[in-house]
Amino acid sequence: MQIDIITIFPEMFAPVLGASLIKRAVQAGLLRIRVHDLRDYTSDPHRKVDDRPYGGGPGMVLMPQPIFAAVEDVRRDCSAHAGRCEVVLMTPQGESLSTPLAQQLAITPHLVLLCGHYEGIDERVKVLVTRSVSIGDYVLTGGELPAMVLVDCVARYVPGVIGHAQATEEESFAEGWLEYPQYTRPASFRELEVPEVLLSGDHGRIAQWRKWQAMSRTLAQRPDLMRQRQP
Ligand code: ADE
Repeated sequence: MQIDIITIFPEMFAPVLGASLIKRAVQAGLLRIRVHDLRDYTSDPHRKVDDRPYGGGPGMVLMPQPIFAAVEDVRRDCSAHAGRCEVVLMTPQGESLSTPLAQQLAITPHLVLLCGHYEGIDERVKVLVTRSVSIGDYVLTGGELPAMVLVDCVARYVPGVIGHAQATEEESFAEGWLEYPQYTRPASFRELEVPEVLLSGDHGRIAQWRKWQAMSRTLAQRPDLMRQRQP
């Protein structure tokens, strides 16, 4: 899978994309990630990428020219993916990032992520955008952190990126349950005990306990997830 990220802060990405699971996925050739500096695409001699909003108002707006040039450039080799490419604008106005959306994006051969900034982005870039995605109902200073969240979340569903065990664990959330509690050694720590059932070796009872825990946690902490569940 190819991911191109277009940003005015390319330096923000190396620590996240160069670590842990994403790093391994890139090394294994499962993901190819390129980060592009929007300023490299401006036709302005001062490398300017933003300007004041028409109609007045505070802040600056990202200009269309460098964004069009960047998207057209990274999409040049799109025919290699039979045109199956999503141009995703990271914006608090987009659809919410969720497990089903991440799973859908994970089977797209080419993702182009556009990181918005300042007060906004010229509305005309929307003709390039196939999806707008938000990571939550709050406004961040830019789309970079949301783009990293999206890459991390999507990467987990690219076949081979995570091990089988983790993949099945994740399914509980996909099914609409929160994760059950986990413990490791020692069985007793500062008088805090691991539930007896987990030490019993009785796999049937353990499975039943975990299901019950997942359900009661979901009911207590995220009742909205219960309501969203398919009957
Ligand atoms: N840019 C700023 N805030 C954002 C959010 N919550 N989600 C996606 N992109 C954003």
